[in-house]
Amino acid sequence: MHNSSLPLPHPDAVAHSHRLVATIKQTIQEAGGVIPFVEFMAQALYAPGLGYYSAGVHKLGASGDFITAPEISPLFSQCIAKQCQQVLTTFPDGVILEFGAGSGIMAAEILKTLASFNCLPTQYLILEVSADLRQRQRATLQAKIPELLNRVQWLDVLPSQPLHGIILANEVLDAMPVQRFRLDEQGVSEFYVGLANSDNNPTETPFIWQMLPTRDESLLQAVEMLRLSLPVGYVSEMNLALSAWIQSLADILAGGLVLLIDYGFPSREYYHPQRDQGTLMCHYQHHAHDDPLILAGLQDITAHVNFTAIAETALTANLQVSGYTNQANFLLACGLPELLSALDFNETKTYLQQTQQAKTLVLPSEMGELFKVMALTSHLDIPLLGFVRDERGRL
Ligand SMILES: C[S@@+](CC[C@H](N)C(=O)[O-])C[C@H]1O[C@@H](n2cnc3c(N)ncnc32)[C@H](O)[C@@H]1O
Repeated sequence: MHNSSLPLPHPDAVAHSHRLVATIKQTIQEAGGVIPFVEFMAQALYAPGLGYYSAGVHKLGASGDFITAPEISPLFSQCIAKQCQQVLTTFPDGVILEFGAGSGIMAAEILKTLASFNCLPTQYLILEVSADLRQRQRATLQAKIPELLNRVQWLDVLPSQPLHGIILANEVLDAMPVQRFRLDEQGVSEFYVGLANSDNNPTETPFIWQMLPTRDESLLQAVEMLRLSLPVGYVSEMNLALSAWIQSLADILAGGLVLLIDYGFPSREYYHPQRDQGTLMCHYQHHAHDDPLILAGLQDITAHVNFTAIAETALTANLQVSGYTNQANFLLACGLPELLSALDFNETKTYLQQTQQAKTLVLPSEMGELFKVMALTSHLDIPLLGFVRDERGRL
């Protein structure tokens, strides 16, 4: 179950992983010997009480497996708050709904900043699939903004009533299960996951890849559209659940902004002939590697986001695509330079730390270019603050 270049998991973590492995094995056996990778990824990340995001592993931050922008610097969330302020000025009774709020640090910083602008949302809703992360979010908010905790409400599902305001998702789309395919001479193969014959050697990975012609008509159709421009043997991913997700947002957003921030590219770059092994990536204790079949439940599995697919889906769902830019452009337009110049450089250590963190957010070699920000809107006809350098033409 291990790769020798990665740190060894603690015995408790190994025991936890074995429980998840047993569950996935059972699913595979019940399915007749294989499951599509998308199902494997869903279980590895979200199996109730056992999956990577559903269980109590310390995922985010320096002591976890990866670090996200709001964990790097409060300046990130302060810039998002500026964009929220602009929308909340249009919808004074508006709410904020955040998907997958991680440690809760972005929610805390946004609320604190909006309170200082006297522009609080009536409610801050958090839709979180992980019970463990909910607890962590509550603890963060209790510690950082106890006076505003009464505005925060956790949801299991989307609200049934339409809402006005802002829907936020930072690094949520990359954590959604994807289908993985390969273009073959004969057609489209899909990556399935089967069981290794590891009974005699329990230390080996219990899962193996199985390539089969896809049984999924929608995947077949979507991939056939790419085939002409790509070589045989080409491997990539597709998130076919995306359109239902975007549609569900369109259904509840009566007016306002959906702000999506994630790493990814437009379709042309995503399915570039040279990106012939796709974008699937795993994160374990700050080591990145490409084997999702090991360390079940202990590592993050992600795929980059195809922003053209989001834009197309959004248009079909009657949302407007009102902006697309990279993270650096977005943060600079939302006032990052002003926030930096307001720092006290007599506090040398903090000053240097914060400027260094800001560099990580905006430098092209760090997060500035790979991370993109997309604005989808409903009944919101204003030039959005963060999208002065708009790159929708690249989609
Ligand atoms: C990489 S973490 C990002 C956490 C946080 N937004 C941050 O930036 O630090 C991905 C998060 O997305 C959540 N997530 C994934 N799919 C989701 C969905 N369909 N609905 C709500 N949350 C989801 C996961 O549970 C997890 O909290």
